[in-house]
This record gives sequence, C-alpha cells and structure tokens, in this order.
Amino acid sequence: MKIAILPGDGIGTEIVAEAVKVLQVLDLKAETETALVGGAAYEAHGHPLPEGTLKLAKAADAILFGAVGDWKFDKLERALRPEQAILGLRKQLGLFANFRPALCYPQLTHASSLKPELVAGLDILIIRELTGDIYFGQPRGRRTAVDGHFPGAEEAFDTMRYSRPEIERIAHVAFQAARKRSNKVTSVDKANVLETFQFWKDVVTEVHAAHYADVELQHMYVDNAAMQLVKAPKAFDVVFTGNMFGDILSDEAAMLTGSIGMLPSASLDKNNKGLYEPSHGSAPDIAGKGVANPLATILSLAMMLRFTLGQPEAAARVEAAVDRVLTAGLRTGDIWSEGTQQNTRRVGTAEMGDAVVAALKND
Ligand code: IPM
Ligand code: MG
Repeated sequence: MKIAILPGDGIGTEIVAEAVKVLQVLDLKAETETALVGGAAYEAHGHPLPEGTLKLAKAADAILFGAVGDWKFDKLERALRPEQAILGLRKQLGLFANFRPALCYPQLTHASSLKPELVAGLDILIIRELTGDIYFGQPRGRRTAVDGHFPGAEEAFDTMRYSRPEIERIAHVAFQAARKRSNKVTSVDKANVLETFQFWKDVVTEVHAAHYADVELQHMYVDNAAMQLVKAPKAFDVVFTGNMFGDILSDEAAMLTGSIGMLPSASLDKNNKGLYEPSHGSAPDIAGKGVANPLATILSLAMMLRFTLGQPEAAARVEAAVDRVLTAGLRTGDIWSEGTQQNTRRVGTAEMGDAVVAALKND
C-alpha cells in the first residue's frame, strides 16, 4: 500500500505531522511519500499542483491531504491559486463522492453554538457530489453582456450543470451509505427555481424507485435545509446534495458539532480510492503556532483505514483513542472554553497528537 502525504499550506503541515505519527504507531507496513501541494508547491515549482505531485497522487492507493490556501496568494490568477490544487485533484482523480460526517462528541456538546439538547448525540452524514455542478461547469468567464438588465456592461458567468450519470452514481453512493446507517436520505435541491436541480430531484427519485424502495427518501429545498439544520439537526441522517450546496451545508453542519477542527472527510472515486482531508481549511491566522486541532486529520486517517485500506479494526482503534483523549480532558483552543468545563486542559497540536499515539499504545 502506498499513501501519498500532501500537507499543503498553513496549519496543514502541523496537523498532517500528527496524523503521520498515528499512522506510524499502527505499523501497517504502508509506504508513504510526501510532496508539496497548494501555495507551498506554487512557491517551489510555480504551480499549485505540479506534475510530480499529481503523478504521486495518481499512483498512490490513498492520499492524506492537509489544507491549502493563504491570503498572500489571493492576487494570483485563478489557475495558480492554492485552491486549484484540491479542485484539480478531485477532478483529475475522479473523486466524485465526498463523505462529511458531522458527529457531536458528548464530551464537546458545550462547544456547539446551539443548545446542548439540540446537538447531543448528533450523527449525520453529508454526501456531497464533488466533481460537477457550478464548480466545474463550462463555459464560465467574463464578457460583455449582450442582454440582461445592462446590455453592454461587463459581466461574469458560471454554468451550473449535472448529467444523468453524474447524478445516478452519487445517488447510489448516498442510498447505499444510508442502508449502513438509519436508512434515511434527505436529498437537497433547489427544484423550485433551477432546471439543474429539478433534474437532480427527478433522477434521484428514479434511482430510489428502481433500487432503494427500502430507504426513506425526503426531498428538501436548500434554503429550508439550511434552516432545519439549525432548528432540529438530529432529524437528519444522510444529507445528500450537489457540489455547491454541499460546500455550504457542510460548513454549517460542522459548526453544529462544536468545532470544524473535529471533522474528517473522505473523497472517493468509483473504486473507493480516496483522498482524505480535514473538513477545515489552512487557517493561516494560527499557522506555525502549534495550536491547531489535529483531530480532524487523525479522524480522516481513520476513514482512510476503513474505506480504502480495508483496515476497519485499525480505524476503530484510532477513533476510540480520540474518544479517550477527549474523555481525559485534553482540548485544543477551538474546543476549549474558559470555565465551562471541569477537568479539562488546554493543549497544543503536538501534545494532542502524542496523546492519541499514547492512547493507541495502551489500548
Ligand atoms: C471545501 C473547500 C473547497 C471547496 C475550497 C478550498 C476549494 O471549501 O472542501 O469545502 O469549495 O470545495
Ligand atoms: Mg467548503
């Protein structure tokens, strides 16, 4: 097994280092190779996703990804910005199925901005289509308007689109995931306004009727879904949606759990090869300070063990170790708050990672 390690920018290097410690203590005989990606790769090689990095990612069985992006690259042309590295990897590797579980750990219920009773025990799974929609639709660009409200004016445009096979394959992923959970899918669309999402709703309905009559399917408009997520998040099980809505709703769902610093993600291709990354970004404001929470990355490694490497026992061990470390009271800044929690201790990135490693050695 070969694992590509792509730490990226900002806190990416710090959090990935902790996940690598965890990987090492598991002693899986996996080979690892590290490469630059994002702004770091741009600075070294002039491109956020250099040929060598892409080659390594393609050759590997799985990819552990940190985060990309920094304000200092905001002025670069779009094709050279760090974000293009992750978008390029998703596209080039065909990573169309994005799993973003949002789990509220009982130890962290207080950290949510919602009332504890609304989030205690929360366990939802967002399944986001990741290689289509307005993110990748062509054409896009700037031009002079020929019609609209201001003909002759400068304008910009993007294209929202989904083909039938794109919707079908991600619908299968969502329904199959639901069968392993509470058998309930909420498909989120904007069928009342958008052609693309009326089509989405129609195709999802057809896939459901043909193959998954045993799974409960509900359709919900995205604005209502955004509201219901903060009103009664526990009413959801699998939240299934397109690329753009999934981007927005997954950040919202993340905050319900208290901290985006806790949330892992997996992006899989049709053969379950995958890229694993924390749901959060590169956080340049705290980069290099050793205070970032490495748990989302460590939990992403657990998802890798389960989905791609066929090591469910090792995955469960890592998750249990994280749970024990939280129970022992260790908290990075994002999940710590003054005075509200007895018997907790504020720790840095490396101390948190070391604690998970220690818990694994003693399990
Ligand atoms: C995410 C991020 C990315 C996205 C950015 C970094 C391109 O926000 O993974 O959710 O929009 O998909
Ligand atoms: Mg996002």
